[in-house]
Amino acid sequence: MKKTITLLPGDGIGPEVTTEAIRVLDKVAELFGHSFVYQSAAIGGIAIDQYENPLPDETLSLCRESDAILLGAVGGPKWDANPSHLRPEKGLLRIRKELELFSNLRPVSIYNSLIAESTIKEDIVRGIDLMIVRELTGGLYFGEPSERLDINGEEGAVDTLTYSRSEIERIIRMAFQLAEVRRKKIISVDKANVLESSKLWRQIANEIAEEFPHIELEHMLVDNAAMQLIKHPKQFDVLVTENLFGDILSDEASMISGSLGLLPSASLSSNGPGIYEPIHGSAPDIAGKGLANPLAAIASVAMMLKYAFGLEDEADSVMSAINRALDTGIRTADLVYGNQEYVSTTEMTDVVLQHLSNQ
Ligand code: NAD
Ligand code: IPM
Ligand code: MN
Repeated sequence: MKKTITLLPGDGIGPEVTTEAIRVLDKVAELFGHSFVYQSAAIGGIAIDQYENPLPDETLSLCRESDAILLGAVGGPKWDANPSHLRPEKGLLRIRKELELFSNLRPVSIYNSLIAESTIKEDIVRGIDLMIVRELTGGLYFGEPSERLDINGEEGAVDTLTYSRSEIERIIRMAFQLAEVRRKKIISVDKANVLESSKLWRQIANEIAEEFPHIELEHMLVDNAAMQLIKHPKQFDVLVTENLFGDILSDEASMISGSLGLLPSASLSSNGPGIYEPIHGSAPDIAGKGLANPLAAIASVAMMLKYAFGLEDEADSVMSAINRALDTGIRTADLVYGNQEYVSTTEMTDVVLQHLSNQ
């Protein structure tokens, strides 16, 4: 199979983890007889530096023409004081919007050998298999107005949370379709005790549930959901929620797996290429030191193989190579506590590649 992949390494540890993910893609190509052609483009801070634009037109057109997009991360202190339109994060938000990537899948599971090392009790995390379905192109991130304003002579600011019926319907429907091939349970997370947008969300979720009578739908308020994720994460099968709640809950849920450096994601539209990226950011505190965990980026490659190319065996091989690499006992710095030894970003990938080759 021949596929064109656009690489958007971005900033901070983005290029470090993307480099490792590409090594894994190359190994998959070699072992399974595929051809992956890469084209690199700038996004985020590096694109601001080079083109004064966090999402240059050239980047967007390369992405549109490709079969899938692999993204590292964007952002960093260098650009934190920039005006809103010249922030790295704006590039990421715009590409999600331009490609209509309304559905962000963030699977949460735990690798075998990390169960005993979890900061949460073993019995609570063993067997966890949760799919967070985060709405990605609406809500507070995109609502207008979003600006500074005068409030009764005082400095103020406004952001706006809007959702249309069609935006809610498509993400809820996506969650039901996923639940159908999973454990047939959806928990829809909202703040319907306060927010009008959440009341509409809940109403539409109930309507769509009637089309799927064999799937159980439960509603949960977001503050309770934040607590329940730690108390009893196995009650969740598919968790569907709006943009900002999904952002926050998925970083929280990463600690069920053991580290933010482990969780992958796929951002999908109804047609056209998706973006595959770790859920973590550019981690300026560890950038350039070889300390980044590459496994979230590598697992994002597994999601690409499965969702973009339908290569399920290849995706399973990557996930099993990660599992076996961790079984050897090696850990990156984010997975150790105290004075325990750890390996570098590249050394972790080396061991994943060995296990990929030996399957
Ligand atoms: P972050 O996710 O970059 O880092 C949070 C913490 O997790 C840090 O201590 C970091 O060292 C650690 N961490 C993250 N990824 C890791 C990995 N792979 N291995 C080991 N440790 C890892 O979040 P932040 O520090 O709040 O944000 C930093 C910048 O990243 C900001 O500019 C933010 O806007 C941006 N960001 C970008 C994305 C993205 O591109 N998708 C996502 C989140 C944050
Ligand atoms: C993520 C990030 C982004 C988000 C930021 C960088 C805009 O945190 O992908 O989770 O909030 O969506
Ligand atoms: Mn986030």
